[in-house]
Amino acid sequence: MKLNNEQVKALVNIIRHYTGFKFPDGLNAELLSHLESGFAHINKDPEELIGLVERFSFNPSRVLELIQPILDEVLIGETYFFRDYEAYDLLAAEVLPELVKQFGSYKRSLRVWSAGCSSGEEAYSLSIFLNKYFAGKDWQIDILGTDLNKSRLEKARQAVYGLNSFRHQSRFKEAFTPVEGRGNLQVKEEYRRNVQFKFLNLLENTSQPLKTDLYMYDLIFCRNVFIYFDQKTIKAVAKRLYQTLAPGGFLVITPSEYSKELFADFEIIDTVNYRILRRPLLVKNEFPVSPKISHIKAEKVQAHMSINPTSQPEIISEISPFEEKLVKDPLNSALYLHLVALYQEQNAPVKALEMARKYVYLEPHKPEGYFYLINLEAQAGNKQRQARAYNRIISILENSNPAEHSPNLPSITYGELLNLVRAGLKEIQYQTEFEN
Ligand SMILES: C[S@@+](CC[C@H](N)C(=O)[O-])C[C@H]1O[C@@H](n2cnc3c(N)ncnc32)[C@H](O)[C@@H]1O
Repeated sequence: MKLNNEQVKALVNIIRHYTGFKFPDGLNAELLSHLESGFAHINKDPEELIGLVERFSFNPSRVLELIQPILDEVLIGETYFFRDYEAYDLLAAEVLPELVKQFGSYKRSLRVWSAGCSSGEEAYSLSIFLNKYFAGKDWQIDILGTDLNKSRLEKARQAVYGLNSFRHQSRFKEAFTPVEGRGNLQVKEEYRRNVQFKFLNLLENTSQPLKTDLYMYDLIFCRNVFIYFDQKTIKAVAKRLYQTLAPGGFLVITPSEYSKELFADFEIIDTVNYRILRRPLLVKNEFPVSPKISHIKAEKVQAHMSINPTSQPEIISEISPFEEKLVKDPLNSALYLHLVALYQEQNAPVKALEMARKYVYLEPHKPEGYFYLINLEAQAGNKQRQARAYNRIISILENSNPAEHSPNLPSITYGELLNLVRAGLKEIQYQTEFEN
C-alpha cells in the first residue's frame, strides 16, 4: 500500500515515540518499503490507525498492539550466533571468574538477559557458552531473551536457523542438530531448556519487576540495540538496565554504543574497547529488587498532557480504582502490594511505604512485602526497620521449602531468593562498616 508523505511522517513519529527506533540515516527506500508492507497487514486506513494511536496514547501497550505488523517489518533484527566472538572471550576471561568470586558460597546460579534478542541467536549463544563454561559444576543458568518484534520472538522459540545465522561461526557446531530444510540446524534441547523468550518494550518501564521477573540479573547483553535510539532514550534504557542488574552485575554492549555520559552510572571494565560495564557493588541506600520511578513514563505523561490536557486524569488516576476497591475490601492484601508498586512509580515513597507496611501487617509470613520494605525503609532513613525487614524475610525464607516458588516470583525458588537476600544484607553490613 502506498502512503503519502504526511502519513509516512506520522507513522515514523509514532514508531519513534513508542519504541525509540530512530530510523538510521532517515527513512531510506528499503525502510519505506518495509513500512508500507507492514502497514498493508493492518486492516485500517492510515488516518484511522493514526486516530486510534492518539486515542490510546495513555496506554502504550495497546498502541504497540495496533502497530505490531509495522514493527515486525521495520525493526532491524540483524543478528547471528556468537556475533563478536571477542565479547564471549572477555566473558570467560574477566566477567565469569569475577561473578564466581563475588557469589562465594552464596549462589551457584546465574540470571542472564539478552535484551533486544531479535530471533534468539544471542540468547542461545549465551546458553551454549555458559553451559560449556560451567559444565560439571552444577550451576543453574537461566536466560531470558526479550524483544518487541513478535515474529522474530516466534522464530526464537522454534530455535531453527539457516546458514545466515552461522556467519563467522565455526566453534560449538556440536550444540546443533540438522533438521528439515536446506542447511537448517536446531539448537539442541539441552541448550534450549533454560532459555525463555518474552515480548518486552525496553522503553516501557514496569512498576512490577517482581511479576515481570526483571530484577537482580547478573549479566545483561544489550548489543546493537542502542544504535537505533536517540540520546534521551539511550539514557533512559541504560538506567533501566542498571536497575535490573544486581549490584556487581555486568552489562555487555558494543564498543560503538558506549558513551561516558550516557552510561555514567556504570563502571567501565573493558577500558580498551568499552564493551563491558558493571553496576558497582557498593551503592548507598539502594536495593535492586524494588521498582524505581519511571522516567520514561513521566515524560510520556507530560507529552500526553501537552497534546490533550483533559486526559491527564486517566493516567494519574491509575491508582484510584485500587484505592476505591480497598475501601470496599480493606483486607485484600494483593491490593496493597499493587498500590506499593504504583505509588513508587508515581514518586510517592511515603504512600508506598504506608501500603507496604499494611501489606506485611496482613501477610506477615509472605516474603514479597519485605522486599519492598527493605528499600522503602532505607529511603525513609529507617535503618533499624530496614534491618528488621531483612531479618524477617530471611527467617521466612529459611522456613520455606528451598525448591518451591512463590506465586509472585515464578522464576526463582525460595532457596535462590534466600541467597539473594543474604547477599543483599551482607552488602548493607559491608556498606555500614565501610561508612564507619
Ligand atoms: C539489530 S538487533 C540486535 C540483536 C542482537 N542483540 C545482536 O546483537 O545480534 C536489534 C533488536 O532490538 C530490538 N528492539 C529495538 N527497539 C526495541 C525496544 N524499544 N524494545 C525492545 N527491543 C527493541 C529490535 O526488534 C531488534 O530485534
